[in-house]
Amino acid sequence: MSETFSADWLSLREPFDRVARSAKLAAALADVLPARPRLIDLGAGTGSLFRWLAPRLARAQAWTLVDADAGLLDEAFFRIATWAEAQGYRVTTPGRAMLVHTPHGAWRVEALARDFAAEPQHLPLHEHDAVVCSALLDLVSAHWLEALASAIRSPFAAFLSVDGRDTWLPRDADDRRIAQAFARDMGRDKGFGPALGPRAPSHAQRVFAAHGYRVLSAPSDWIIPRVGHAMLSAMVTGHAAAAAAACPAMADRINSWRERRLDQIARGRLALRIGHRDLLALPRS
Ligand SMILES: C[S@@+](CC[C@H](N)C(=O)[O-])C[C@H]1O[C@@H](n2cnc3c(N)ncnc32)[C@H](O)[C@@H]1O
Repeated sequence: MSETFSADWLSLREPFDRVARSAKLAAALADVLPARPRLIDLGAGTGSLFRWLAPRLARAQAWTLVDADAGLLDEAFFRIATWAEAQGYRVTTPGRAMLVHTPHGAWRVEALARDFAAEPQHLPLHEHDAVVCSALLDLVSAHWLEALASAIRSPFAAFLSVDGRDTWLPRDADDRRIAQAFARDMGRDKGFGPALGPRAPSHAQRVFAAHGYRVLSAPSDWIIPRVGHAMLSAMVTGHAAAAAAACPAMADRINSWRERRLDQIARGRLALRIGHRDLLALPRS
């Protein structure tokens, strides 16, 4: 059973994702792609990666958005159309695809509702020039990643995998305990087997290097300032809930930590940096 993510949560994080992802790695990917690249976005959610990466590729292109949650894919079409029209692009929907008509050429978007936890190798990976994902790798297992790396031959770009370098400011005596309990939850099975969690970036780097890829990587931390109340509250309540689920014996201590942190948010006193890394694996030809 795949982990579920609400469209509201994906909306809340999108502005932080947008500034965090590495433009340098996107440019390196753009350099190696052909004139009309076909990309497959694994765990595409509401299409956040498309809205960020398609303009950076700046040419005609075709995307397949894959997700287990068909409702998120419907939302992706709606949000991409709304976003594209706000950029001044015309949007048409011939058949089941969407075409965004831009000065750089047409961007074709298709959706594929599929739970790919069991067998990533059965996705239409070879019909695409790049496999991409955002905020997915920390959910998957080492076994799944190995199956994916064995199945693909194209460039692979994985944006926004958490790496555990979180910094709460000001610090709190219980941050470390909460972080340890939270890390246990991150390793929980999210449908793919034991999740890599914060080990995802380093593990992916090793796996793709072992498969003969040249691997580039860059930090892509979320910087959440004191005024980012909604995102800060979501992080505090999310960390507390996950930590309490992983370590129920610590529930009272976690609850007190959450109350202190929520109070700091209300007073404009809390800022947060959440460590992420982006990775680009390029086949050596
Ligand atoms: C953290 S969200 C990231 C969404 C999007 N890539 C973004 O950056 O906003 C993870 C996505 O992976 C999808 N997902 C999780 N498990 C899945 C599975 N087993 N098969 C297909 N999609 C899955 C979820 O539905 C969700 O949309």
